Amino acid sequence: MLRRLPGSEEVGLVSTTPETAVVFAPTVVRTPAIVTLLIMLWRLVVGVVHLVVRHPVACSLVALVSGMVYALGVRLASIIVVALLCAVSTWAGLWPVPGMRVIGWPLVAWWRWMWVYRRRWGSVLAVTGLRRSINGRTYTPDLLRVTCSSWADVVTVRMLAGQSDEDWAARAPNLAHGFGSPWCRISSPRPGWLMLTFPRYDPLAKVLRARPIPNRPVVGTVNIGLCEDGTPYRLKVHGTHVLIAGATGAGKGSWLWGTVRGLLPAMDVGLAQVWGLDPKRMELSFGKDLFNEYAATPLECAELLERAVEVMQERADRYAGVRRSHVPTIEDPFILVMVDEVAFLTAYQPDKGLKLRIMAALATLTTQGRAVGVGVMAALQDPRKEVMNIRNLFPDKIALRLDEAEQVDMVLGDGARDRGALADQIPRDRDDPSVGAGVAFVRLETSPEPLRVRAAYVSDDDIKNMIMRYSDVREAWR
Ligand SMILES: Nc1ncnc2c1ncn2[C@@H]1O[C@H](COP(=O)(O)OP(=O)(O)OP(=O)(O)O)[C@@H](O)[C@H]1O
Ligand SMILES: [Mg+2]
Repeated sequence: MLRRLPGSEEVGLVSTTPETAVVFAPTVVRTPAIVTLLIMLWRLVVGVVHLVVRHPVACSLVALVSGMVYALGVRLASIIVVALLCAVSTWAGLWPVPGMRVIGWPLVAWWRWMWVYRRRWGSVLAVTGLRRSINGRTYTPDLLRVTCSSWADVVTVRMLAGQSDEDWAARAPNLAHGFGSPWCRISSPRPGWLMLTFPRYDPLAKVLRARPIPNRPVVGTVNIGLCEDGTPYRLKVHGTHVLIAGATGAGKGSWLWGTVRGLLPAMDVGLAQVWGLDPKRMELSFGKDLFNEYAATPLECAELLERAVEVMQERADRYAGVRRSHVPTIEDPFILVMVDEVAFLTAYQPDKGLKLRIMAALATLTTQGRAVGVGVMAALQDPRKEVMNIRNLFPDKIALRLDEAEQVDMVLGDGARDRGALADQIPRDRDDPSVGAGVAFVRLETSPEPLRVRAAYVSDDDIKNMIMRYSDVREAWR
């Protein structure tokens, strides 16, 4: 990019007096005053049109007030303006949600635009190298718009022609530091444009209490926790497979138990089944009465996985030529095969025969299961290919806190970390295990943009409660 610049090259210059610098004197062209005046007038008109197009509301308000002052005189116009201001502030005070949307956040955005972004734009972009100088002229990407929500500023930018979102993604940490934000996330809504998200604080810093168990059976998605904009996050479980990776203590348990919790009413009426595999015996075993099927030893796990493959193949035989997707029914419920610490069954399994059987069953389920209503949700600590060579067969991936930066792209796919999925920077505190636990970056097959989400904490008491309410029903169904 920009390797060959236009213009003549300053090469082969010869000076007749050695040790004297070559001096270039620009040619002086005398411009008539009228031409200069016309150019200035043209620039003024363009500037005014630009201002009106960019800030239509502010310009209309100024025009309206000026019109009132002209038509009614200063005193009457001031009284009307003050009365209007009082009425609008009272309305915004009485109805804070629309008040903030219509008045509050636009004012905050205007202030942030002036004070933070506009003021520092040129210098930050120059230092990060996103501003370019060609042939003595400086080109700066356009700062188009700043919008604010309760937790973040979203800055819309028009890139320089020839720049890509990857150029910007590589400088995301510089931009975050430059504009005083904990991090910067980059997305591209349309070619040539970028949206930079700069959080003002972290809405996911607080521990979330377990989400309520749904009132009615729901199979498609489960309410797991919150997205960073404060909206509930619903994880799709039917029609996909989910891989959850996170270092020890990252909070994989919340994602697994949150899913079981959301599916309980559907399990209750027989529209869904969860088959739990817990080779480590430290997670799912705590609520094993809730699962329709449960296995712990590697042999039991291999047999259970092979049974899931049989169910899958039997359904595939029945569905072939009749239908192309699965609708959960009591006869053919959605089956979620939930595996905690899947590496115990694959990479760390000393019995080669069992390992091969387990790998074959997992690969078959993840390649063919979702269309017939058999899904896999697998959790693991180490996402390396040697440990989990079928990780690419999971359409949806979740990266909780990871130990190394390279592991982020291993889990979420190439470029995810550059787009802001800083899973290796999720905070941890040795004295408080809840710090950063359950926080994850989710990359769905439908979108390349990683989403930051915190799973609600399903505590031991919550699990005991779930067992008390639902385990009898599970027994009845067996
Ligand atoms: N969503 C959450 N919110 C707050 N704290 C959490 C959350 N999830 C887990 N924790 C805390 O983190 C601790 C470890 O969580 P968890 O056992 O789920 O981690 P893990 O990823 O399964 O670790 P391991 O791989 O060692 O099993 C829990 O005991 C709890 O104190
Ligand atoms: Mg665990």
